[in-house]
Amino acid sequence: MPEAALPAPPLGLLEALRSARRPLVLTGAGMSAESGIATFRGGEDSLWSRFDPTQLATADAFDADPALVWAWYRWRMAKLRMSQPHAGHAALAALARLRPGLVLATQNVDDLHERAGGRGVLHLHGEIAATRCRRCDRPQAIEIDPAWAERPQLRAAPPACAVCGGPLRPGVVWFGESPPARALRAAIGAAQVADLVLVVGTSGLVYPAAGLPAAAPASVPRYEINPEPSALSAAMDGLWRAQAGVALPRLVELLAQ
Ligand code: OAD
Repeated sequence: MPEAALPAPPLGLLEALRSARRPLVLTGAGMSAESGIATFRGGEDSLWSRFDPTQLATADAFDADPALVWAWYRWRMAKLRMSQPHAGHAALAALARLRPGLVLATQNVDDLHERAGGRGVLHLHGEIAATRCRRCDRPQAIEIDPAWAERPQLRAAPPACAVCGGPLRPGVVWFGESPPARALRAAIGAAQVADLVLVVGTSGLVYPAAGLPAAAPASVPRYEINPEPSALSAAMDGLWRAQAGVALPRLVELLAQ
């Protein structure tokens, strides 16, 4: 979106941010879209329009066909590793430095927030590269090969656990699994004491993450940055129909004025 097309921030957002001491920011796949990472929903390039989540994103799917599932996740691991954070990631990290009480909870399994300088990010759906054994659950790091993204394969046997020989799995939360308890608890706690909620780039369809804005006290202002309507839009006090990579840097710029 060219800069001239960027609408002004919604009424009250800047003022709310100026006085906020404990803002909660919730990000989703749209946050990484401008880094070249496909979102899950919306558009023909989205992951769940090209791939079947029941074949790829459940523990049963992995147990039934580990090589099919592993090949897909190692393709995504390599794509994420080769992508770069954009100006919106950097702006959120800058915002966190301006507002040390800010809590950033993400549904994203990439590390783009961290690579842009984000600290203490709560990963509600895990971290893809935090591989661990499917059998004994021990964490085990692997080398990510760029060739997995450049020449994707339909099947690839998962590496064996060095301890028990079980298959390694990606560090994501699959459908039917619970989010990491500590991250979820911290995110709910942050929502309960938040004085501003900013939702960026999520369709707001996957719970419990999508329930975080509603966990904030009713009086707390809620804003959304998303070029399209989401399932959370109706519960917001203001909507900024803009891309994260343009809107967030503008917000930080306005805050500094
Ligand atoms: P979705 O793919 O469901 O939604 C992406 C959202 O980002 C949509 O609302 C888009 O309009 C918006 N969007 C696209 N480009 C954007 C941009 N440049 N700036 C801002 N917004 C933009 O992604 P999530 O809501 O994150 O779960 O999906 C939630 C969960 O569903 C994922 O974490 C994943 C998936 O199945 C698991 O893997 C457990």
